[in-house]
Amino acid sequence: MIINLDEIDSTNEYLKRMSNDGYNSDEMLVVTAQYQTAGKGRRGRSWVTEPGTALMFSVLLKPRLKLDDCSMLTLVMALAVKRSLSDMDIEAMIKWPNDIVLNKKKICGILTEAIAETGQMIIGVGINTNQESMPEDLSLSATSILMETDDCIDHDSLLDNIIYHLEKLTQSVYDTGDLSLLRKEYEDSLVSMNTAVTVLDPAGEYDGICKGIDDRGQLIVEHEKKETRVYAGEVSVRGIYGYV
Ligand code: BTN
Repeated sequence: MIINLDEIDSTNEYLKRMSNDGYNSDEMLVVTAQYQTAGKGRRGRSWVTEPGTALMFSVLLKPRLKLDDCSMLTLVMALAVKRSLSDMDIEAMIKWPNDIVLNKKKICGILTEAIAETGQMIIGVGINTNQESMPEDLSLSATSILMETDDCIDHDSLLDNIIYHLEKLTQSVYDTGDLSLLRKEYEDSLVSMNTAVTVLDPAGEYDGICKGIDDRGQLIVEHEKKETRVYAGEVSVRGIYGYV
């Protein structure tokens, strides 16, 4: 089911309220908004877009996975977005774990939240589709599909295709309990594959070479001739010269 709203604080918050109010279904529930008054990004940041210029939606689902494994679905959503853009001949890449980039700039962010009380999970997605420009402070690291391709994106058909891919991809994860069947496709889409990255670990930053992901979606980074596993919850990763 899809609920389309004109304005809301945040589509993630809307679904969190529905979940806490007892909404419970095995089917995915999707909510979109033309405008968010309090859109949320990762790490407590805000997510601000002009009305109607971005595709913003959140999905409420009941993961058939152990709680510790639910973060894998964040990577799955990134793949669903990447596949859907590819279907439109837009060849975007993934910046681990779940940003989508086009020409090395961010066009999509994903915010996943688990609701421990109800065992449900929310995956919120913001895609910069039809903005004609970016705010100056973001212009070096972010862009829109329109700015890069001159294509104006139809939000309804892009959303339908993302949900189609998301359903297929989540089924694959539920079948195996991990990302093993999707790992190669994800690595082929990884913008930093086999390149130098900086791992921003609160315990200390270090540089290494990105070697892909493991079956649970942790990033494999070769550092001082050893492979380390980077878990998305704790750290972020960027290219040694900038955002990617
Ligand atoms: C990021 O920081 O990269 C994640 C951004 C996620 C933004 C989307 S827009 C729809 C959904 N509702 C929110 O409040 N945030 C997510």
